[in-house]
Amino acid sequence: MAQGEAKTFYIETFGCQMNVHDSEKVIGTLLSEGYQQVSTVEEAGLILYNTCSIRDKAAQKVFHRLADYKKLQSQGKKFGVLGCVAQQEGHKIFERAPHVSMVCGSASYRNLPEMLVQLEAGNRRVTGLDDRHTDQTFDTEFTARSNQHRGYITIIEGCDKFCSYCVVPFTRGKERSRTSESVLAEARRMVDQGFTDIQLLGQNVNSYRDPSGKKTFAELLAAVGEIAGIKRVRFTTSHPRDFTRDIVDAIDAVPTLCDHVHLPVQSGSTKVLDAMQRLYTREQYLERISWIKAARRDISLTTDLIVGFPGETREDFEETIALLGEVQYDGAFTFKYSPRPNTQALSLPDAISEEEKSLRLAILNERQKQISVENNKRHLNQTVEAMVEGRNHSRKQWYGRTSQNKVLNFTAPDDLSLTIGSYVQVRVTQSYANSLVGELAV
Ligand code: SAH
Ligand code: SF4
Ligand code: F3S
Repeated sequence: MAQGEAKTFYIETFGCQMNVHDSEKVIGTLLSEGYQQVSTVEEAGLILYNTCSIRDKAAQKVFHRLADYKKLQSQGKKFGVLGCVAQQEGHKIFERAPHVSMVCGSASYRNLPEMLVQLEAGNRRVTGLDDRHTDQTFDTEFTARSNQHRGYITIIEGCDKFCSYCVVPFTRGKERSRTSESVLAEARRMVDQGFTDIQLLGQNVNSYRDPSGKKTFAELLAAVGEIAGIKRVRFTTSHPRDFTRDIVDAIDAVPTLCDHVHLPVQSGSTKVLDAMQRLYTREQYLERISWIKAARRDISLTTDLIVGFPGETREDFEETIALLGEVQYDGAFTFKYSPRPNTQALSLPDAISEEEKSLRLAILNERQKQISVENNKRHLNQTVEAMVEGRNHSRKQWYGRTSQNKVLNFTAPDDLSLTIGSYVQVRVTQSYANSLVGELAV
């Protein structure tokens, strides 16, 4: 880069909300180091990919993207790989994509300012690959939040569960929580800046353990919800093993806590759950669901499911289908099992054919769709609160989100201009599997 020229960067983010939020922190760090963010690869001096490795497809996408842009190296552009593929592949990335000059896992982002200096000095192999033993979390005052009304706070990083199919314990390091004081201070700062919707994040958010010993997860949730000015508090993802009854009590007691729990089950068969090392049985999972269903509020339930785990028989799969009917989720994220490096399940024969996995996935999705359609009918004629997110001009509709995290498209009088981030009451007139339609209630 010529002297005096502006330092510019482009960043693309793959993966979960933790990655999206990490990117906000990385962007903030780069801006504070004098970089300017640009929206195209062509304009950028530094190109960063914040990567996901949860399934093979996600990881391969990164290498394809890097290969696509290899030719840009001749223009003096530099490339950095961040996130879960960076941590997993480490120095191997330099061999596979020699035009990359920075590889940095999420546990090393706090070292980014030094790494950028090395990069600018022309070092072609800059790495930040702290292993899973770090105790540090990445909190920064420089977070560049992409939405001015709804924002994330990571309260716990890493994972100690080691489910037999999952890369996260290897890519994100050991579980480490922030103190409740630091979480509450960040939440208060956000509210002062005008945020009304806060989402607490963690790979297993409810495995949170306050290092200062002051608050349980449920108490922290309630405390964030009680900050004056907060309208909505969400939390994701909850692990069934650590899902305690006091979380439901907190949702019942504190109206700002959203009436939605995402509780990934993965499989309805205790045999498969055991092979996955999920640390709960079908019955224990259903017990947690019964607590949620016994709440005074109508709490929306969603989940994650994997089909085709090694050894999953047709009967096991039928148990998963039956579980959907029993729980009546409002929605589910469904995946075909993907063998991942370092994981225990990699040594099991991945004997279920791709065709069979696809078939099971299609059956599962069809069944869940029926349930979602039926479930969402309960909102018909209800008046629900939506946070206004934007306007679809061609459809002449506004769109927003309900406390249960459902997309709500709605009409309002033509001459009325709604403010993004405001809350309105909407009467629901139509319902679908993945969204609701309504009209502004006056
Ligand atoms: N910590 C959360 C899940 C985080 S990963 C939990 O334990 O519930 C997000 C989802 O990706 C998982 O719930 C799982 O359904 C899916 N997933 C993880 N590893 C996978 C793999 N190897 N193949 C297919 N899906 C996977
Ligand atoms: Fe992965 Fe299991 Fe940890 Fe969730 S709990 S992140 S699925 S190892
Ligand atoms: Fe992907 Fe890493 Fe998140 S593997 S799902 S970006 S923790």
